[in-house]
Amino acid sequence: MSAQIIDGKAYAKQLRQRIAEHVDRLKNEHNLTPGLAVVIVGEDPASQVYVNSKSKQTKEVGMNSFKYEMPADTSEADLLALIDELNGRDDVNGILVQLPVPDHIDADNIIKRISPAKDVDCFTPENVGKLAIGLPGPVSCTPLGSLMLLRDHLGKLEGLNAVIIGRSNLVGKPMSQLLLRDNCTVTVAHSRTKDLAGLCRTADIVVAAVGRPEMVKGDWIKPGATVIDVGINRVDAPEKGEGKTKLVGDVAYNEAAEVAGAITPVPGGVGPMTIACLLANTITTTCLANG
Ligand code: GUN
Repeated sequence: MSAQIIDGKAYAKQLRQRIAEHVDRLKNEHNLTPGLAVVIVGEDPASQVYVNSKSKQTKEVGMNSFKYEMPADTSEADLLALIDELNGRDDVNGILVQLPVPDHIDADNIIKRISPAKDVDCFTPENVGKLAIGLPGPVSCTPLGSLMLLRDHLGKLEGLNAVIIGRSNLVGKPMSQLLLRDNCTVTVAHSRTKDLAGLCRTADIVVAAVGRPEMVKGDWIKPGATVIDVGINRVDAPEKGEGKTKLVGDVAYNEAAEVAGAITPVPGGVGPMTIACLLANTITTTCLANG
């Protein structure tokens, strides 16, 4: 069997189109232009690429984009002061501090300082709690994007066995909440899970979010299962020439695509959905703040 490729890039484009229409209505009917502030501390090249994409796409859907690039030696106090300023600004509806931050800054302190009303990542304890009990608010971007792709491909998810590999606050835990809400039977696997391969073989849905290149092998996949690969890992690619690199997911794509019913590619799968969902969350926080 050869899996259907789930085209996250195309889905994200359609989603951004709908978001742009929503932004137009907010402007024309309510005189509101949503604004998203993105903060990066330091010069990590991968983070810079993500932040530039976020700013560019924010503008493309008609929102205001405010980008703050701070040097790597920025103190925690200075970063907290910027967050306080952004929390107080009426033209900023969403605040995102790109992670990771440099080691001398405590990421938890930064996250906790962001106003929950502007927390478009859904990282603050208040919004994590709301997500867990199903109250309205922003929803973690990568899990939300993954859920949209799953619903689009499978329709109703009710009754399906979902195995999530990885228990991070960013992806694994919120993904489990969202799939539970859709009435999946959810198992969250992690580094101490026994017989991970055997567990995966029971799954109708596999969500791989471990950050280990090509860890999930083809023979871990149940024939016909849907595979969502959240990983984005840069690895050496000597086949492309000396010193060349390429992006791969957490799933051994070619092997898994032989067995799965459908699979997200890397790049072009979940990644584009994460940014589109960030923009969707900025609409959500704008609307919640303005009744
Ligand atoms: N670093 C990697 N992914 C993310 C994300 O979704 N949000 C933030 N703030 N930082 C990240």
